[in-house]
This record gives sequence, structure tokens and C-alpha cells, in this order.
Amino acid sequence: MTAVPSAAHSLRVARLPLYARLLGKAMALVYRIRGKDKYDEYRMEWVQNMPFVVMPSVFNPKVPRTGEFLASQINSRLVKSDWEVLDLGTGSGVCAVIAAQHAQRVVAVDINAAAIRCAGVNALLNHLEHKVDLRHGDLFGPVADERFDLIVFNPPFMTGAPRDDRDRAWRSSDVAERFAAGLAFHLKPTGFALVLLSSFGNGSAFLHEFARRGLHISVLAERRFVNERLTVFRLALPDSTQTFERIR
Ligand SMILES: C[S@@+](CC[C@H](N)C(=O)[O-])C[C@H]1O[C@@H](n2cnc3c(N)ncnc32)[C@H](O)[C@@H]1O
Repeated sequence: MTAVPSAAHSLRVARLPLYARLLGKAMALVYRIRGKDKYDEYRMEWVQNMPFVVMPSVFNPKVPRTGEFLASQINSRLVKSDWEVLDLGTGSGVCAVIAAQHAQRVVAVDINAAAIRCAGVNALLNHLEHKVDLRHGDLFGPVADERFDLIVFNPPFMTGAPRDDRDRAWRSSDVAERFAAGLAFHLKPTGFALVLLSSFGNGSAFLHEFARRGLHISVLAERRFVNERLTVFRLALPDSTQTFERIR
């Protein structure tokens, strides 16, 4: 069994050592020079042996590793067949399509219209279009008063004003605060959220907002690379009576 650290532990070691941070910056520079961060081309990626087209301006689920890692946590042990799932910031639709294999239905939301088109193509490509409901809009805006068993979110975890649609995948000024504030209105009483944060971004701003709202925070999974640590946090409502069985 893999040892999964507590949320408190993840907070304590929120910063990687200097050499790892410098390596991360160097790798980001190499990506930029080689144009990998441009997202201006159509690409085909495979996640869990499923094909995903990535359209221009849409976040690639594999190159920065985060989408693929979050999607790897979504399986039949986690998701029940009668569940309704919300994939916030769906991008290529990687988490929505993988969740749709197990859930009753999935609502996929993104503020980038190209991402919604891309997620639609990928739902079709994987024969799951009947289960994926695509909605263009801002955070919880398109789901009004709907509640879900599971909400998954790989957010833009860097702080700042996004320059364009492509940049919205990386940067935001207020998503952490607005997501934390809205979560309680969109989870069923036994529902929970999975949020991916990277040591590369400002994860502590999200964790601070989650703690401020009194959400129960635990760590579902963590993966360490030389230059980056990815953590999938599990968030439950403060008065939730459910017990968390670690799925590992
Ligand atoms: C890091 S990407 C994750 C994409 C995909 N879920 C994945 O894991 O590969 C973040 C996504 O959130 C979307 N996004 C950013 N701000 C948003 C907002 N306010 N409302 C809805 N989606 C948003 C971006 O357009 C982008 O597709």
C-alpha cells in the first residue's frame, strides 16, 4: 500500500527544495523555448488507452502531467454507477470522459468555448457522448442549483490575471476563493470534491480558502517528480457524517 501523507503534512512541506524549484523553472523555460506551452496545434494524446484530441488553446492533459494524474484517481472503486459528477474546468474533457465510464452522468463546464468543443469531440470519440453534458460558462454558473456526488477540478493554480483563453488554464485571480465559496451549494450531503494542486503553483491559496470555509481536507493521492509534487486533495462538507475510506 502506498503511504499517502495527511493534508497537514502536505501543507508543511508546501515548498520543494531550492534545487527542485530551480529545475522546475528551467524545465518551464525549455517548454517555452520549444513551443510546448503554445497549444496552437491539434494533438492526439492517449490517457488510460483512450484517445483525446487536444485542440488549439485547450489544456493538454499529459504534457503538464496534472490532468492525467487527476484522471488516474477516477475509477470504479471511487465512482458509483448512480453518481452524478461535475468536472469543473474540463479542458480536453479527460476527467469528464473517464468519469462517464463509471457514473450515471457527468456535467462538464469550462469558461473556454474551445475546451467545450474539444471535450464534446472526445466524448464522441470514446462513445460516451450520451453521458457527458457540456456547458460553457464560469465555474458553478452553468449548474445553477444542481448538486453532485463528486466534483473534480484541476484548477488554474497560479495567481494572476489570465492574458487569454489559453492562459486561463494556468492563471486566475479569484478562482480559489469562488470555488471554495460555491462548493457547499453544489455537493450532495455525502458528496465530495477532488482538487489537484501542484507545488509549482500557488496551492496554499486554495488550501487557505478550503480551510477558511471549514471544509474537511484530506489527501487522496500524491505523486513526486524531481521538480514538482502533485497532490489530489479530497474535500468534504463540514457537517458530512461520511467516513473516508482511502481508495488505494
Ligand atoms: C489546468 S486546466 C485543466 C483541464 C482539464 N480538467 C485537465 O485536467 O486536463 C484548467 C481548466 O479550467 C478552465 N477554467 C479556468 N477558469 C475557469 C472558470 N472560471 N470557469 C470554468 N472553467 C475555468 C480553463 O479554461 C482550463 O480548461
